[in-house]
Formats: sequence, C-alpha cells, structure tokens
Amino acid sequence: MQIDPFDGPLGARVTGLAVGEGLAAAQRAALRDAIDRHAVLVLPEQDIDDDAQVAFSEGFGALETPLDFDQYAGVHRLVTRLANVDGDDRVMEPDSRHATYMKGNQLWHTDSSFKPVPAKYSILHAREVPPHGGDTEFADCRDAYDQWLRDARTPRADELASLVCEHSIVWSRSLIIGDFFTDEEKAKLPAVPQRLVRVHPASGRASFYAGSHCARVVGWPEERGRALIDAINALCTAPERTWVHRWRRHDLVIWDNRCVQHRGRPHDPRERRVMHRTTVRGDGSSMDGY
Ligand code: SIN
Repeated sequence: MQIDPFDGPLGARVTGLAVGEGLAAAQRAALRDAIDRHAVLVLPEQDIDDDAQVAFSEGFGALETPLDFDQYAGVHRLVTRLANVDGDDRVMEPDSRHATYMKGNQLWHTDSSFKPVPAKYSILHAREVPPHGGDTEFADCRDAYDQWLRDARTPRADELASLVCEHSIVWSRSLIIGDFFTDEEKAKLPAVPQRLVRVHPASGRASFYAGSHCARVVGWPEERGRALIDAINALCTAPERTWVHRWRRHDLVIWDNRCVQHRGRPHDPRERRVMHRTTVRGDGSSMDGY
C-alpha cells in the first residue's frame, strides 16, 4: 500500500490496496492513520458492489442509516445513493422534487452535522460519472482555524471554543430551494447544537465545524452570528485550502467530516451521475467533546 500526499494542506492518493478483498488489521490501521493525517483519501480503481462497500466501511465503525429521501429500492439499506437517476434507472427531470433536494449537496457542508451525533467519515464510490463536471471539492477547516489564529481575528481561541451553533438541514435547504420540507418532515429534523470548534481526537488539531447546515450562533444576535459563520465558512473554503476531485469510474474517496467541508459541483443534468455513499457514524456529539 502506497500513500502519496497531494500538494496543499489536504488529501492523499492510496494505491496498492483492493478494498473488495478485505483489509488486514495493519492495512486498516495505516488507512486510519492516513485519514487522520490527510483528511481526504482517494483510492482509484475499486470495482466494488454495495455489500463490499458496506463491509469495508463497517471496519471504521457503525454506519448511519440514510434519510428516507436517500433510500432507493435495490440499493443496500445502509447506502445513500446520490444520483440523478430514479428508482427505475431513468435520468430525473432536473426540476423534480428529488433532483431539487439533491442540489443542497452543491453547498459547502459537512455530512450529517444536522444530526445529534454527526458523521465521522463519508465513503463515496463512483458508479457512473458524467463526461464533464460533477466534481467534488474539499476544504481544510483545520488550516482555516490555524489561519484565523495567525491573523489574530476575533473571537479569539478561548471564546471560539465556548461557542455553540445550531445546525439544521431545513435551514440549509431553504438557502437554495426555499420552504422545501413538509411540516411532518420538519418535525423529524429539528435543529441540533454543535460546537463551532472541534479538536480531532487523533491529530489533536482544532478545526472549524460550520458549513451550510450551520444556521446560527446560540446566544448571539442573529446578524452578528451570521456574520461570524459566513466569515468562517469563507476562510475554510478559500481557494488555497480547497482541492477538487475529478471523478473516474470506481474511484473511492474517504473524507473526515470532523475537519473537512465538501460540495458537489454541477454537471449536465441529462448525463448520468451515480454515486454510492456509506457514512460512518461519529463517536458522539461535538457537545460532549467528540
Ligand atoms: C455529498 O455531499 O456527500 C456528496 C457530494 C457529491 O455528490 O459530490
């Protein structure tokens, strides 16, 4: 197994590993160490099915069950299908409800931060890729935190560490598609508190934890909180700390949601894009120091 870091603050390419054949304990430990260090790993040429993806992913911890919106007949119940094709394998109408819902993935975010226990790793496998576009971009929120302190911006580290934000998918979807959810759906998706700064348990590095689900700073006036969240998100996603992955079929990409934001990029909606994601549940709420 070979690990080649990319230029820039995050990401590495991992070769010499066939995920579908199962991993030896030493290989898994090396992979985990590489995720802790590089935050995003690209494993090319992994021709696997859902069962193999789930088995590989479960080696990193218990998996999240996808939201109802992301469940498809014929797809493993622990796999989130991110695709512009419907359950009958037909390309969706771009203005259909599901295609509209999927547009939320084109905002910078960290997976499941709107859940009380948010995601640790996301593992995304390219089943079908469009000829142009449909890339995924990643942003290093550890580097952004370090930069904030270097710039001596306020709030300073002590106050940042005390701040809690509300995260909500109802909020983030409203940014691009208005009042999307029904009242019944909203009732199942209440806003949850998350710390604004998380310290990575393995690397010890502090990182901003915001993204598009991050709606407001608890206890702050609305406008002041939004200004802080917007400034932090802008710093996280500045070009010098982002990296774009241009997909090839059967790429498998793993990222650490505790310290990375990501977003999908648009493509011609008539071209098929089918991605299968497994999501490793976090060890606990950021509110409890995880
Ligand atoms: C995601 O938001 O988890 C996936 C992004 C993408 O489809 O590129």
